[in-house]
Amino acid sequence: MKDYIKVDEWKIIEEGFNPHYNKISESIFSLGNGRMGQRANFEEAYSGETLQGNYVAGVYYPDKTRVGWWKNGYPEYFAKVLNAANWIGIDIRVGGEPIDLATNRVDEFRRELNMKEGFLKRTFRADVGKTLVDAEVIRFCSIVDDEVGVIQYNFRPIGVDSALTIAITPYINGNVKNQDANYDENFWNEIDKNIWSDGGYVHMKTKKTGFDVVTGMKCVILIDGKPVDVKPEPVVKEKFIGIEYKLYVEDMQEVTILKFAANLSSQNHTVDQLIDNLKTVLEKAIDKGFETMLAEQAAAWAEKWKHNDIIIEGDASAQQGIRFNIFQLNQTYTGEDDRLNIGPKGFTGEKYGGSTYWDTEAYCVPFYLATAPQKVTRNLLLYRYKQLGKAIENAASLGFKNGAALYPMVTMDGTECHNEWEITFEEIHRNGAIAYAIFNYVRYTGDEAYLADYGLEVLIAIARFWSQRVNWSEDKQQYVMLGVTGPNEYENNINNNWYTSTIAVWCMKYALEVAEKVKSADADKYHALAAKISFNEAEESAKWSDIIEKMYYPYSEKHGVFLQQDGYLDKEQILVKDLPADQRPINQKWSWDRILRSCFIKQADVLQGIYFFEDQYDMDTIRRNFDFYEPRTVHESSLSPCVHAILAAKLGDETRAYEFYLRTSRLDLDDYNNDTEDGCHTTSMAGTWMSVVEGFGGMRVKDGKLSFQPFLPAKWNSFSFHVGFRGTLLNIKVSKDGVQITNHSEAETVVIVHGKEQLVKANDELLVEA
Ligand code: BGC
Repeated sequence: MKDYIKVDEWKIIEEGFNPHYNKISESIFSLGNGRMGQRANFEEAYSGETLQGNYVAGVYYPDKTRVGWWKNGYPEYFAKVLNAANWIGIDIRVGGEPIDLATNRVDEFRRELNMKEGFLKRTFRADVGKTLVDAEVIRFCSIVDDEVGVIQYNFRPIGVDSALTIAITPYINGNVKNQDANYDENFWNEIDKNIWSDGGYVHMKTKKTGFDVVTGMKCVILIDGKPVDVKPEPVVKEKFIGIEYKLYVEDMQEVTILKFAANLSSQNHTVDQLIDNLKTVLEKAIDKGFETMLAEQAAAWAEKWKHNDIIIEGDASAQQGIRFNIFQLNQTYTGEDDRLNIGPKGFTGEKYGGSTYWDTEAYCVPFYLATAPQKVTRNLLLYRYKQLGKAIENAASLGFKNGAALYPMVTMDGTECHNEWEITFEEIHRNGAIAYAIFNYVRYTGDEAYLADYGLEVLIAIARFWSQRVNWSEDKQQYVMLGVTGPNEYENNINNNWYTSTIAVWCMKYALEVAEKVKSADADKYHALAAKISFNEAEESAKWSDIIEKMYYPYSEKHGVFLQQDGYLDKEQILVKDLPADQRPINQKWSWDRILRSCFIKQADVLQGIYFFEDQYDMDTIRRNFDFYEPRTVHESSLSPCVHAILAAKLGDETRAYEFYLRTSRLDLDDYNNDTEDGCHTTSMAGTWMSVVEGFGGMRVKDGKLSFQPFLPAKWNSFSFHVGFRGTLLNIKVSKDGVQITNHSEAETVVIVHGKEQLVKANDELLVEA
């Protein structure tokens, strides 16, 4: 754990330059706007340790799979989030010496991520050769003009006797690599490049996938705030363009470089229009100017915060942690485009390759449902709807029939690209999360039309998969599900994982229920769909009903708990508290074989099922399962503690709920798992939000109404959060006085607080006293 980030409620601050932390900070201070994003690399040259990362959403490369032993059914490639052209680069030489913080002596270094207004600011004093230089750099990825990134780089020499030569080279560099390339391959070809009097562009195309991306820039140079008329020299290299300005600068004169850059991809523009459109986008940006764009950025972020801020009074460190999580989620996914999704690392690193995991449906959907317009979550659902054909192909390639769909564990475009058999073929519970997200969306929004238009088609395909994936056991006279991996990836190829079997059966039940609903609401639509997908209602629903009725679930009479899988109790039962600290995390300290044989649970598994389907279980059942599984869980996935936090809160265990919340709240800010340098844990940030809103706030949807069962963590004076729900925007404040609900909308609404209905009038507030 590190402790170098300064606490501030709205900013992430690093003071003093520690090169050992640079890659961690590059992740933490990342910027993004849903369309593009980047790590907090420096603009000027840096010869020290760095992970360079510029990413354009939806642009990926199918890196050829690398495995020791090929197995039939393995995908041929693993889609990689692609490191794209570097648009931030500005080389600066002062009196012939480069600004390079790895070699210059650095003082007064400060990096600041302003979450309120959405920009990154860096100030430093560097000893560049014989010259002291003060610099202040501001950069942002515009959320208003989402193809544009802007940099204002100010610096001045201090204490020089005579005019200095300064060489400034803003550039675009397409000569980039992915650190995680399987064969050390370069993923981009250069198509074209050009230099203008004030900028230029590089046009790159990905190998194999053929995405065209043009990255361009236009620059303005000022001295003491006044434009200078100096003609730059072109610098042209392979996949690289730059323009070099030579200036003479006196002591304390301030040099400003304004760099407006843009990334346009063939996903959003026709290839023959890319260059013209790039020029238009850049001209529009330069016309607006830096100050206007920065002000627009602040206004757009203010609007976002209005809908999704969480305010914690009495604990600045927790406040910073939760805002950081909300900020990063909003930087990663804006919901504008149903072809995009939320990668586990967002735009902060390459790890985990493809963009879409079950993380989206299981963890991110609740966050976007409550904090963003309805269409944002709808687009996440549509993303899967549009990939249904590929999910059916994927299942067919594994031997499933009749339109059964198996969604991929990891994907960019719907094709499976994960290639460890125990996950690719066995971690099939992901199908359940996709169905659950449809249920969650409809429960939250009331948008039942979605079911007839899209949802039912997905649900039937998923139900078909489950009905073929189980088999009848003559011995048990029940259906069983063999050879699976549950959410707990520390167990593979197990039989009858309780969670997977439970969600499989739930999917079949839900598909039947939705089919009935759609049939009675709109018979024509229903029959059209049934014909389109050859749904033999009588036969298929009879089969599903039979499975629903006769499914086998492992259970321990002795402990009164659902058993994670057959044979779980054969394992030596050791508790995490008895594991010596030097043995943890076990995924770094133990052999895989030892992990598989141990009883330790990587992440919520049975408890994940109890969290999803809590209404089906009484409190005693929940408590017994929680008390049994929690002590065996090592939480070596960052997705895990939030589920435990929510269940602990439900069970009234406020202290532990808070402890679990703490594990994720500052996971990246404090580099808790020693891996933030690879990128932030973006999808688990949604879990932190869930811990506060569903855990401490106890928020649920009950019969079309929002219900709250809140408690105030002892360390806090109060906390409050915003939620949008069916056309209303509510603020829920939990303090020692009670629960205050403020309705910021024109419609009255009824909410349930501690089990009692409360009417909150339009634009009014109501206090339910403690
Ligand atoms: C977890 C998975 C998760 C993936 C990406 C893994 O460590 O076990 O549940 O989908 O990370 O976040």
